[in-house]
Amino acid sequence: MAILKVARIGHPVVRERARDLTQAEIGSAGIQRLIDDLVETMHVYDGVGLAAPQIHVGLRLAVIEVPPYDERTQDAVPLSVLVNPRVTLLGEERSVGFEGCLSIPGLRGQVPRHLRLRLEAQDRHGEPYSLEATDFFARVIQHECDHLDGGVYLDRMDGMRTLSYLEEFEKHQVRSDDDDE
Ligand code: NI
Repeated sequence: MAILKVARIGHPVVRERARDLTQAEIGSAGIQRLIDDLVETMHVYDGVGLAAPQIHVGLRLAVIEVPPYDERTQDAVPLSVLVNPRVTLLGEERSVGFEGCLSIPGLRGQVPRHLRLRLEAQDRHGEPYSLEATDFFARVIQHECDHLDGGVYLDRMDGMRTLSYLEEFEKHQVRSDDDDE
C-alpha cells in the first residue's frame, strides 16, 4: 500500500466533477490498489473520510471510517467504500457541526448538514448496497460526496464567521464532530 499525496484547494482536481467508474474498472487491479491506498492515506492523515479527487483521481469513489476509539465523536462508522454513490436527503432536519478537510489543512468551520439521508452505492467488489445514515455518518457522507462534484465544505457554510485555525479552534471551541474528511 502507498500513502498518496493529498490535493489541496487551488489544485483544479479538487474542483472538478468526478466521473463514474465502470463495472470493469471496479474489478481491476489498479482500482483495487487505489482503494487500499485511499484507506491507507486516510488512516495516516487521521481523517474519517477521503475522496478520490483528493488524491488527484477524478473518479466517483470515496472511503469513510470512524474508529470506535475516536475521541472526536461517539458515532463510530465501520470502514465503508463508496463507489458511484448517490445520496437522497431525507426530511428537512439539519444540524450544524464543525468540519475540517485534508484538502484545506489547518482549518475548521461550522457547516449545516441534513441529519438523515439514504445512500446508494457499490462496494469495492461492485455489489450494490444501500443504507440510511443519520447524524455524524450522514455528515461525513455529504462531505465526501460533495468532493465528487468538486465541492468543499467551505461552499456549504452559512458564512465565514466560524472559520477557525485548528489551534484556535482547539483553544476556544468545544470539540465535537471535529474531523478531517
Ligand atoms: Ni474533505
